Amino acid sequence: MALLYRELGIDLGTVNTLIAEGGEIVLSEPTMAAIDVDEQKIVALGQEAKDMYGRVPEGIQVMYPLRDGVIADYEVTERILAYFIQKVCGPVRLFKPRAMVTVPYGVTSVEGRAAHEATFRAGSREVILVQRALAAAVGAGLPIGTPSGNMVVYLGGGASESAVISVNGIVVANTVRVGGQRLDEAIATYVRHKHGLVIGETTAEELKLKVGSAVPLDTELSLEVQGRDQVSGLPRKVRVTTADIEEALADPLAQIVSGVRATLERTPPELTSDIIDRGMMLCGGGSLLRGVDRYFTQVTGVPAYLAEEPVACLALGAERVLKQVELFRRFLPPS
Ligand SMILES: Nc1ncnc2c1ncn2[C@@H]1O[C@H](COP(=O)(O)OP(=O)(O)OP(=O)(O)O)[C@@H](O)[C@H]1O
Ligand SMILES: [Mg+2]
Repeated sequence: MALLYRELGIDLGTVNTLIAEGGEIVLSEPTMAAIDVDEQKIVALGQEAKDMYGRVPEGIQVMYPLRDGVIADYEVTERILAYFIQKVCGPVRLFKPRAMVTVPYGVTSVEGRAAHEATFRAGSREVILVQRALAAAVGAGLPIGTPSGNMVVYLGGGASESAVISVNGIVVANTVRVGGQRLDEAIATYVRHKHGLVIGETTAEELKLKVGSAVPLDTELSLEVQGRDQVSGLPRKVRVTTADIEEALADPLAQIVSGVRATLERTPPELTSDIIDRGMMLCGGGSLLRGVDRYFTQVTGVPAYLAEEPVACLALGAERVLKQVELFRRFLPPS
């Protein structure tokens, strides 16, 4: 019998949303909306909204409706999801897709419910939630069906998560509400304190991507950025180096590590030896930071390696979990 409905893996993120169908990523856009505040109307969604960021007149607000990995503005999230689902499936009426949506480990039932409802009302026939770490493990093809320890560390935009998975379920896990956005804030604060220069979030992120590193580099990188002098209020430039960013990131990275440590400490000894042998798999946008694998290896003593498709593996895994949901159902979050 032919497949009756389409099946989507939706990785709903604070910064980016990815959708997988048929084993491929079919959509990847910022989880952003541009809103006309006075008229309470949506002006643009997704990539179009991001392109407006910092370039719009007063009265239009460009925003992220998720905060730290969970929905903060329900209505806007639903609109964005409806827009993305339509983009992938065409105008859905009769043939609504089934969807599997990623949520952070340990979401409250209210937060899980919100993700479920928003995706359902956005035009899905059935919605099932999956923890990010589990989706990532399945997407990366880790042997999680066997009774053995598999460790995933997810470094997202709004939150980070570490989990040990065995026999298709999460054994121990931990979410820390510190992600890439918090790293950008730390960079902006550092530049303000050290150079007396106020820079925007976009500039802070640019510094992280272009010169940032979690560990010292053999060849330092540097970038000149423009900001506003904290005292005079006038535009000024400074050169920021890799060492600067490394220092700025030390604190938020340590917070993420404390979550990873907590997971390792609670891991049953039977699984710990597998994890030491196999290492921990890093994924999420934050895993693209230079030296992050070396950093995690150093501070935890467990070898860390980057997933093959560190960003796409969550959406791809979500779709795969959906296709064999009976195997996983009793380990998925309630909604
Ligand atoms: N090369 C890079 N180096 C460092 N950070 C990066 C790099 N590329 C992307 N990022 C960061 O990754 C983050 C986005 O990651 P991702 O798309 O996994 O998050 P998300 O799914 O939107 O968030 P969450 O799952 O926490 O809700 C951003 O903060 C971005 O700055
Ligand atoms: Mg994510």
